[in-house]
Amino acid sequence: MKRLSFILLSLVLPFTLLISCERSGGGKNRLQARIDSLQNKVNSAYKPGTGALMNTIVQPHHIKLWFAGQNKNWALAEYERQEVMGGFEKIQKYHKDKPEATAVAMIFPAMDAVEKAIKEKDESAFKNSFAVLTNTCNTCHKALKFEFNVIKVPTTNNFDDQSF
Ligand code: HEC
Repeated sequence: MKRLSFILLSLVLPFTLLISCERSGGGKNRLQARIDSLQNKVNSAYKPGTGALMNTIVQPHHIKLWFAGQNKNWALAEYERQEVMGGFEKIQKYHKDKPEATAVAMIFPAMDAVEKAIKEKDESAFKNSFAVLTNTCNTCHKALKFEFNVIKVPTTNNFDDQSF
């Protein structure tokens, strides 16, 4: 009896597997539908535009960087420099296919010079490299036909609630 049921089982099992494989075709379609719906979600997720990244990250930290350096607050200056850098990195990350992602590399040498000046706590090198940095902001704006967005070395600190 045991043997018979074993034989029966070994005859029936391959068919059962075959049928269940056939059925999983439906599972495959469901999986594809799920992937498509997730892809749609990813595509419509919020990505800050270049203008928003400039306004909310690059510009305010560019200002703070200047006043930190002016006050020889090198720890804060380095922090602000990294924040500015974070803005540029987000442009590379979120706007890969746009001209600004390629153009952004032009700012890196100036950012490096600022970093060196901060490390060396060199006030005049800081001033000079910050001026070059600011010019390069405008070089990029010109290159991308946003030449009317003109950046200058700040004269007034509009972050009055923060100690520099
Ligand atoms: C990769 C090139 C590039 C570099 C480098 C760059 N910008 Fe921009 N910036 C842009 C582009 C492109 C826009 C316009 C984006 C838009 O509105 O779609 C812009 C816009 C701006 C704006 C205008 C925002 C507004 O709504 O008024 C400010 C402010 C700004 N940038 C600040 C800076 C500062 C400060 C630096 C340097 C520390 C800098 N940018 C460096 C490409 C660049």
